[in-house]
Amino acid sequence: MKKLITAHGLTFEPLIDSTEIAARVAAIGHEIQEAYQTKHPLFLCVLNGAFVFAADLLRACEIACEVSFVRLASYDGMASKGEIKTVLGVDADLKGRHIIVVEDIVDSGRTLHHFMSDLKKLEPASIALAVLLVKPDAIEFPVQIDYKGFDIANKFVVGYGLDYDGLCRNLKDVYQLYTEDE
Ligand code: IMP
Ligand code: MG
Repeated sequence: MKKLITAHGLTFEPLIDSTEIAARVAAIGHEIQEAYQTKHPLFLCVLNGAFVFAADLLRACEIACEVSFVRLASYDGMASKGEIKTVLGVDADLKGRHIIVVEDIVDSGRTLHHFMSDLKKLEPASIALAVLLVKPDAIEFPVQIDYKGFDIANKFVVGYGLDYDGLCRNLKDVYQLYTEDE
Protein backbone atom coordinates (compact mmCIF):
# COMPACT_ATOMS: atom_id res chain seq x y z
CA MET A 1 0.00 0.00 0.00
CA LYS A 2 1.30 3.46 -0.93
CA LYS A 3 1.31 6.02 1.86
CA LEU A 4 -1.04 8.61 0.37
CA ILE A 5 -1.33 12.08 1.87
CA THR A 6 -3.86 14.86 1.33
CA ALA A 7 -3.53 18.64 1.27
CA HIS A 8 -6.31 21.13 0.51
CA GLY A 9 -8.43 18.18 -0.70
CA LEU A 10 -5.88 16.79 -3.20
CA THR A 11 -4.17 13.42 -2.83
CA PHE A 12 -0.44 12.85 -3.30
CA GLU A 13 1.60 9.63 -3.53
CA PRO A 14 5.28 9.04 -2.61
CA LEU A 15 7.77 9.75 -5.41
CA ILE A 16 11.30 10.11 -3.95
CA ASP A 17 12.06 9.12 -0.38
CA SER A 18 14.29 10.97 2.04
CA THR A 19 17.13 8.40 1.86
CA GLU A 20 17.37 8.75 -1.90
CA ILE A 21 17.24 12.55 -1.62
CA ALA A 22 19.96 12.58 1.05
CA ALA A 23 22.27 10.43 -1.09
CA ARG A 24 21.80 12.65 -4.15
CA VAL A 25 22.25 15.88 -2.17
CA ALA A 26 25.45 14.51 -0.60
CA ALA A 27 26.80 13.65 -4.07
CA ILE A 28 26.02 17.11 -5.43
CA GLY A 29 27.56 18.70 -2.33
CA HIS A 30 30.73 16.72 -2.89
CA GLU A 31 30.88 17.76 -6.56
CA ILE A 32 30.48 21.43 -5.60
CA GLN A 33 33.10 21.08 -2.89
CA GLU A 34 35.62 19.73 -5.41
CA ALA A 35 34.83 22.43 -7.99
CA TYR A 36 34.88 25.40 -5.58
CA GLN A 37 37.68 24.49 -3.11
CA THR A 38 39.14 27.99 -2.64
CA LYS A 39 36.55 30.02 -4.53
CA HIS A 40 34.51 31.00 -1.47
CA PRO A 41 31.18 30.64 -3.30
CA LEU A 42 27.99 32.48 -2.38
CA PHE A 43 24.95 30.22 -2.43
CA LEU A 44 21.84 32.12 -3.43
CA CYS A 45 18.83 30.24 -2.11
CA VAL A 46 15.59 30.93 -3.96
CA LEU A 47 12.85 31.23 -1.33
CA ASN A 48 10.58 29.76 -0.32
CA GLY A 49 10.80 26.31 -1.89
CA ALA A 50 14.58 25.81 -1.89
CA PHE A 51 15.14 26.42 1.83
CA VAL A 52 15.24 22.71 2.75
CA PHE A 53 17.43 21.71 -0.21
CA ALA A 54 19.78 24.65 0.42
CA ALA A 55 20.12 23.82 4.13
CA ASP A 56 21.14 20.24 3.33
CA LEU A 57 23.30 21.13 0.31
CA LEU A 58 25.34 23.72 2.20
CA ARG A 59 26.07 21.28 4.98
CA ALA A 60 27.24 18.76 2.37
CA CYS A 61 29.92 21.25 1.19
CA GLU A 62 32.79 21.39 3.63
CA ILE A 63 34.43 24.52 2.21
CA ALA A 64 34.35 28.22 3.09
CA CYS A 65 31.11 29.57 1.64
CA GLU A 66 28.29 32.03 2.30
CA VAL A 67 24.54 32.01 1.78
CA SER A 68 22.07 34.70 0.83
CA PHE A 69 18.39 34.59 -0.10
CA VAL A 70 16.17 35.86 -2.87
CA ARG A 71 12.42 35.47 -3.27
CA LEU A 72 10.90 35.16 -6.74
CA ALA A 73 7.29 34.38 -7.50
CA SER A 74 5.53 33.15 -10.63
CA TYR A 75 3.17 30.62 -9.09
CA ASP A 76 -0.28 30.80 -7.59
CA GLY A 77 -1.61 27.44 -6.39
CA MET A 78 -0.75 24.98 -9.16
CA ALA A 79 -0.59 27.37 -12.11
CA SER A 80 2.44 29.31 -13.31
CA LYS A 81 1.36 32.93 -13.78
CA GLY A 82 3.68 34.29 -16.39
CA GLU A 83 5.40 37.34 -14.98
CA ILE A 84 8.26 36.97 -12.49
CA LYS A 85 8.39 39.18 -9.44
CA THR A 86 11.53 39.55 -7.35
CA VAL A 87 9.84 40.02 -4.02
CA LEU A 88 12.92 39.97 -1.85
CA GLY A 89 15.95 41.20 -3.79
CA VAL A 90 19.55 40.11 -3.58
CA ASP A 91 21.08 41.84 -0.57
CA ALA A 92 24.73 40.90 -1.08
CA ASP A 93 27.25 42.52 -3.46
CA LEU A 94 27.61 39.89 -6.18
CA LYS A 95 30.24 41.61 -8.30
CA GLY A 96 33.24 39.32 -8.76
CA ARG A 97 31.70 36.56 -6.61
CA HIS A 98 31.22 32.89 -7.56
CA ILE A 99 27.45 32.41 -7.30
CA ILE A 100 25.61 29.11 -6.97
CA VAL A 101 21.87 29.60 -7.33
CA VAL A 102 19.93 26.96 -5.37
CA GLU A 103 16.39 26.24 -6.55
CA ASP A 104 13.85 23.57 -5.68
CA ILE A 105 12.40 22.80 -9.12
CA VAL A 106 12.50 23.80 -12.78
CA ASP A 107 9.03 23.49 -14.30
CA SER A 108 8.53 25.78 -17.32
CA GLY A 109 11.94 27.34 -16.63
CA ARG A 110 10.39 30.79 -16.79
CA THR A 111 11.47 31.86 -13.29
CA LEU A 112 15.12 30.92 -13.64
CA HIS A 113 15.46 31.91 -17.29
CA HIS A 114 14.64 35.50 -16.30
CA PHE A 115 16.41 35.49 -12.96
CA MET A 116 19.71 34.08 -14.30
CA SER A 117 19.91 36.76 -16.97
CA ASP A 118 19.17 39.46 -14.35
CA LEU A 119 21.94 38.04 -12.18
CA LYS A 120 24.49 38.27 -15.00
CA LYS A 121 23.98 42.04 -15.05
CA LEU A 122 25.41 42.19 -11.50
CA GLU A 123 28.77 41.00 -12.92
CA PRO A 124 29.54 37.94 -10.78
CA ALA A 125 32.78 36.04 -11.53
CA SER A 126 30.70 32.93 -12.32
CA ILE A 127 27.14 31.67 -11.99
CA ALA A 128 26.11 28.04 -11.54
CA LEU A 129 22.70 26.57 -10.90
CA ALA A 130 21.82 23.70 -8.55
CA VAL A 131 18.27 22.37 -8.84
CA LEU A 132 16.76 19.46 -6.93
CA LEU A 133 13.97 18.54 -9.37
CA VAL A 134 13.53 19.07 -13.11
CA LYS A 135 10.42 18.37 -15.20
CA PRO A 136 11.99 17.91 -18.67
CA ASP A 137 8.58 17.63 -20.37
CA ALA A 138 7.43 20.98 -18.98
CA ILE A 139 10.41 23.14 -19.99
CA GLU A 140 9.52 26.07 -22.26
CA PHE A 141 12.37 28.47 -21.44
CA PRO A 142 16.02 27.40 -21.76
CA VAL A 143 17.89 27.12 -18.45
CA GLN A 144 21.44 25.84 -18.02
CA ILE A 145 21.47 23.45 -15.06
CA ASP A 146 24.91 22.64 -13.62
CA TYR A 147 23.89 20.40 -10.69
CA LYS A 148 20.67 18.41 -10.87
CA GLY A 149 19.01 16.14 -8.31
CA PHE A 150 16.34 14.25 -10.24
CA ASP A 151 14.37 14.38 -13.48
CA ILE A 152 10.67 13.81 -12.72
CA ALA A 153 7.42 13.46 -14.68
CA ASN A 154 5.33 16.49 -15.50
CA LYS A 155 3.14 16.22 -12.39
CA PHE A 156 2.70 18.58 -9.47
CA VAL A 157 4.95 17.62 -6.53
CA VAL A 158 5.17 18.59 -2.86
CA GLY A 159 7.45 17.97 0.10
CA TYR A 160 11.11 18.65 0.99
CA GLY A 161 10.42 22.40 0.81
CA LEU A 162 7.89 22.36 -2.05
CA ASP A 163 4.34 23.37 -1.21
CA TYR A 164 0.79 23.23 -2.42
CA ASP A 165 -0.67 26.58 -1.35
CA GLY A 166 1.50 26.70 1.74
CA LEU A 167 1.14 23.09 2.88
CA CYS A 168 3.57 20.13 2.73
CA ARG A 169 6.91 21.95 2.85
CA ASN A 170 7.78 20.01 6.01
CA LEU A 171 7.44 16.53 4.47
CA LYS A 172 10.72 14.59 4.42
CA ASP A 173 9.90 12.80 1.13
CA VAL A 174 8.77 14.19 -2.24
CA TYR A 175 5.20 13.29 -3.25
CA GLN A 176 3.45 13.66 -6.61
CA LEU A 177 -0.18 14.32 -7.43
CA TYR A 178 -2.06 11.02 -7.35
CA THR A 179 -4.45 10.09 -10.13
CA GLU A 180 -6.51 6.93 -9.66
CA ASP A 181 -6.43 5.70 -13.27
CA GLU A 182 -2.79 4.60 -13.17
P1 IMP B 1 8.82 27.70 -13.47
O1 IMP B 1 9.09 29.18 -13.57
O2 IMP B 1 7.60 27.30 -14.28
O3 IMP B 1 10.03 26.85 -13.81
O4 IMP B 1 8.39 27.40 -11.99
C1 IMP B 1 9.29 27.39 -11.00
C2 IMP B 1 8.69 27.63 -9.63
O5 IMP B 1 7.33 27.19 -9.53
C3 IMP B 1 9.47 26.79 -8.66
O6 IMP B 1 10.48 27.54 -8.10
C4 IMP B 1 8.43 26.35 -7.66
O7 IMP B 1 8.41 27.26 -6.59
C5 IMP B 1 7.14 26.37 -8.39
N1 IMP B 1 6.77 25.01 -8.86
C6 IMP B 1 6.89 24.49 -10.11
N2 IMP B 1 6.47 23.23 -10.17
C7 IMP B 1 6.07 22.92 -8.91
C8 IMP B 1 5.55 21.71 -8.33
O8 IMP B 1 5.35 20.66 -8.97
N3 IMP B 1 5.29 21.79 -6.99
C9 IMP B 1 5.48 22.90 -6.24
N4 IMP B 1 5.98 24.04 -6.74
C10 IMP B 1 6.26 24.05 -8.08
MG1 MG C 1 10.90 27.84 -6.13
